[in-house]
Amino acid sequence: MTSPDSSGKKKRIFSGMQPSGEAHLGNYLGALRRWVGMQDEYDCIWCIVDQHAITAGGDPAETPANVLDLAISFLAVGLDPEKAIIFVQSDVSEHTELAWLFNAVTPVGDLERMTQFKDKSQRFDSIPAGILNYPILQAADILLYKADGVPVGEDQKQHLEMTRDVARKFNAAYGETFPETEPLIAEDVGRIMGLDGESKMSKSLDNTIPVLAAPDDVWAKVRTATTDPQRVRRDDPGRPEVCNVFTLHKFFTGDATQADLDTQCRAGTIGCVDCKRILSDNIADSFAPFRERASELHANPERVREILDDGAARARAIARETMAEVRDRMGLDWRSAIG
Ligand code: TYM
Repeated sequence: MTSPDSSGKKKRIFSGMQPSGEAHLGNYLGALRRWVGMQDEYDCIWCIVDQHAITAGGDPAETPANVLDLAISFLAVGLDPEKAIIFVQSDVSEHTELAWLFNAVTPVGDLERMTQFKDKSQRFDSIPAGILNYPILQAADILLYKADGVPVGEDQKQHLEMTRDVARKFNAAYGETFPETEPLIAEDVGRIMGLDGESKMSKSLDNTIPVLAAPDDVWAKVRTATTDPQRVRRDDPGRPEVCNVFTLHKFFTGDATQADLDTQCRAGTIGCVDCKRILSDNIADSFAPFRERASELHANPERVREILDDGAARARAIARETMAEVRDRMGLDWRSAIG
């Protein structure tokens, strides 16, 4: 996707993240790191999707602090309210209104086929409708702003396909209204695996490394990471290509050190604990400026409130325009019968 477009206007991108606490390495590598780099080129909107998070059944007593923590993570890694709109989903009620209207064009069968629905629904005896309808709210998030592109990690591919389907179906039923948003997937990063090395890094699986963790806490996490299961003793030869610790080294460790670790691992001359220690130190070092900014923001939550309030006001102005058009197209304007 090239920006600006032929008329010289910056293209708009939208993306969201669930507030399940501080951002983790998967969020950072799959999303935040790229979002920061896009802010000059695109008209950017970054959203904390608290209404999506309730479908995971979070504790209401923790939700406000989780939203604040994620907002601090956003700002600490470099999302910039001078360049982008940063706001909380529930502050702009048009998201849920549009999601409801999209119910009219979304087949239940399509929702039931979503991989994330199949996975998540297994955790329930009685499946909440919110889990099924989750992708409709996501489509509403994106299309409310008529976003041209959505930068996300690889795990969101199917949800973005659904967003394009919703736009297509709506346009076919009610007239050309929404763009077919382009997914901007972090293909080079792929899916960052958790400390268990088996499942996607995800807060709900408790297998994450939080971006803002203190160095000792990073080490407490990295120390537990699964490595090559065939390596039982320290001097057993290892296979870096099957080791998740090595995958993470690619993002945090210089090429020369990586090559050296690769050779030593294969020769069995470095143990996994030493290899993890290097990774842990490099992660903690590269995030040191973020930790510093985060602690300033924790000391000044009023500033965060101002940023999110201002972001919501700017988002709402765009959302209202889209909703006026959508209501009109769908005939949700009974006064027009009177003239
Ligand atoms: P969420 O909150 O799970 O993740 C936010 C972003 O982080 C990326 N990500 C990962 N990338 C690589 N490896 C991982 N282990 C990993 N974990 C998370 C995700 O791909 C995502 O880009 N449904 C969305 C939230 C959402 C949204 C939206 C996104 C709601 N509305 C509109 C984009 C546009 C979700 O649960 O992301």
